[in-house]
Amino acid sequence: MKGELKIPNHVAIIMDGNGRWAKARGKNRSFGHLEGSKSLEKIALYAMSRGVKILSVFAFSTDNFKRSESEVNYLMDLFINMFTKKMNKIIANDIKVVFSGRKENLRLDVLDAMNIIVDKTKNNQSGILNICLNYGGQEEIVDAVNNIVKLVKENKLSVDDIDKNTFYKYLYQNLGPIDLLIRTSGEYRISNFMMYQSSYSEFYFTDVLFPDFNEEEFDKAIISFNNRDRRYGNAK
Ligand code: FPP
Repeated sequence: MKGELKIPNHVAIIMDGNGRWAKARGKNRSFGHLEGSKSLEKIALYAMSRGVKILSVFAFSTDNFKRSESEVNYLMDLFINMFTKKMNKIIANDIKVVFSGRKENLRLDVLDAMNIIVDKTKNNQSGILNICLNYGGQEEIVDAVNNIVKLVKENKLSVDDIDKNTFYKYLYQNLGPIDLLIRTSGEYRISNFMMYQSSYSEFYFTDVLFPDFNEEEFDKAIISFNNRDRRYGNAK
């Protein structure tokens, strides 16, 4: 790719299609999630090497608890394994890992593993990997409002200080707007992902299933982003 490409500062990915990818190979859904976790590590490193500063990924939604107990448990065990034993390249590449989502309903061993990777990477500065786990976009907005109400009641915050820019400070992480939002697997919806942050995002949809979403596919999304005319409501 040519050097003059604009690189989005904040990219988000709805990592969809693990189950279908596995089924197409006669394997169980868990195998798809395992392969998806490898894709995530690869793409996070690649995105940062291309100059992306923040990568937000949808790992587990609040609604994913509706899945079978065995699938939920597999995913939770996979997260623990990733956060405690893998992700060595993420750590070595100076990427800071943060989480967005509700802590309630998560197993203690999952919370412990999340704390371990957060702690190991807290001083890293080259990029941020924001893992949305037990996350819902509407829930995030409601939690932010509740947080604001509490601070106002305690006289720690004035309502006059809240506007669309300062509101970011009350979200799970203060990472600013998403420039490019990617969804894999041919679905065309936002599924309660980062709605506040995606107000002016460019959307990129691909039929590729997440375990197959590699560096080349990421580059296609960047090229597509470069062909967009971002007007933010302005007239041309
Ligand atoms: C959606 O595909 C994917 C998920 C619900 C899980 C995403 C998790 C990973 C990619 C692993 C991430 C690992 C870490 C360490 C954060 P799906 O199961 O809905 O696929 P389908 O639509 O084909 O059934």
